[in-house]
Amino acid sequence: MRILILGGTRFLGRALARLAVEQGHEVTCAARGVSGAVPAGARLVPVDRDDPDALVPLAGDGFDAVVDVARQVSHARHALAALADHVGHWSFVSTISVYADNTTPDQTAVDAPVLAAAPPDVDGPVGPDHRWYGECKVSIEQAVRQRVGVDRSFICRAGLIVGVEDPSDRFPYWVRRLAAGGEILAPGRPTDSVQFVDVADLASWLLHAAGTRLGGTYDGVGPAMTRADFLAGVAAGLDVADPALTWVDQDFLASHDVREWSGERALPLWVRLPESGGLMTRDARPALAAGLAVRPLSDTVRATASWMAAQPDAVRQGGLDPADEAAVLREWQAVRDR
Ligand SMILES: NC(=O)c1ccc[n+]([C@@H]2O[C@H](COP(=O)([O-])OP(=O)(O)OC[C@H]3O[C@@H](n4cnc5c(N)ncnc54)[C@H](OP(=O)(O)O)[C@@H]3O)[C@@H](O)[C@H]2O)c1
Repeated sequence: MRILILGGTRFLGRALARLAVEQGHEVTCAARGVSGAVPAGARLVPVDRDDPDALVPLAGDGFDAVVDVARQVSHARHALAALADHVGHWSFVSTISVYADNTTPDQTAVDAPVLAAAPPDVDGPVGPDHRWYGECKVSIEQAVRQRVGVDRSFICRAGLIVGVEDPSDRFPYWVRRLAAGGEILAPGRPTDSVQFVDVADLASWLLHAAGTRLGGTYDGVGPAMTRADFLAGVAAGLDVADPALTWVDQDFLASHDVREWSGERALPLWVRLPESGGLMTRDARPALAAGLAVRPLSDTVRATASWMAAQPDAVRQGGLDPADEAAVLREWQAVRDR
């Protein structure tokens, strides 16, 4: 295939470009090139998508497939205007942040309610909390379906993407924490759900979708697993035997200012239940039936740990600080011993 990646200079786009080159495809990436370089074997066409006509010169290149990771509505609209009539298949990487209901577990992409589209004066996510991110992705999904048609477009609503070159502090936190050993604070209950998708599996599925001209809207998530299985899988990938997990009740954590999901004082991949019970329980069966192949967690852990060791400066440090974790565990112990 001749494939055009609108992106390709970081994380998912770069993993996709790398895999596409490995599979023998002819790969062009259109990006500014400020986030990083494209992988060896891929061609970078330097463009700034703030320029509405930036992609027009690529219209005659005869691409079989486009994959867009846009977050800005105008970027996506201009790409569609320039290229939609000239390519065979269009994939858009969306997000499960498009969903309106994060509470109800086990929702499926086909009938789960989504947010309203972004208002006309909002073009992209705003501020540190990425306000309007989901709404902008809804707007882009609608534009893709309208301009390309549902049969030729693949809308892939990714869940948490993990693995090599992960720019977040989420999955790497648990790799680092299990590797460090000692008493480990495990949040919530062992049976709580954890869900994510390996970046390489997602890249592989995007290529499969382009190659088979898959149409439709899917969640790009692996099957949910329990947190006990998740932590055991991380330990297995690191060859850590019998990690010393101490399970701490979610209300106790909240009352000690331990935060959810990501960032300072947060325990990644942990959300409060039942309020956020829909976030990590999405129905993965349609994606698996449509070609998503999921590698064992231990493989994801090994690849992530190798990347973290090779490029320590690229890994964002975050989550609960070791001293804070120890303090919370001491207080939890004191409460339990009372
Ligand atoms: N990470 C997660 O857990 C997660 C979860 C759900 C969904 N997603 C979605 O998954 C996708 C992740 O994509 P990703 O990792 O490849 O990259 P990304 O973080 O979305 O990066 C954006 C890409 O677009 C390019 N870009 C940004 N501004 C540009 C401009 N003005 N002109 C031209 N190019 C521009 C960047 O390259 P340059 O800066 O070099 O130009 C980069 O390659 C996104 O669609 C995200 O919304 C992520």
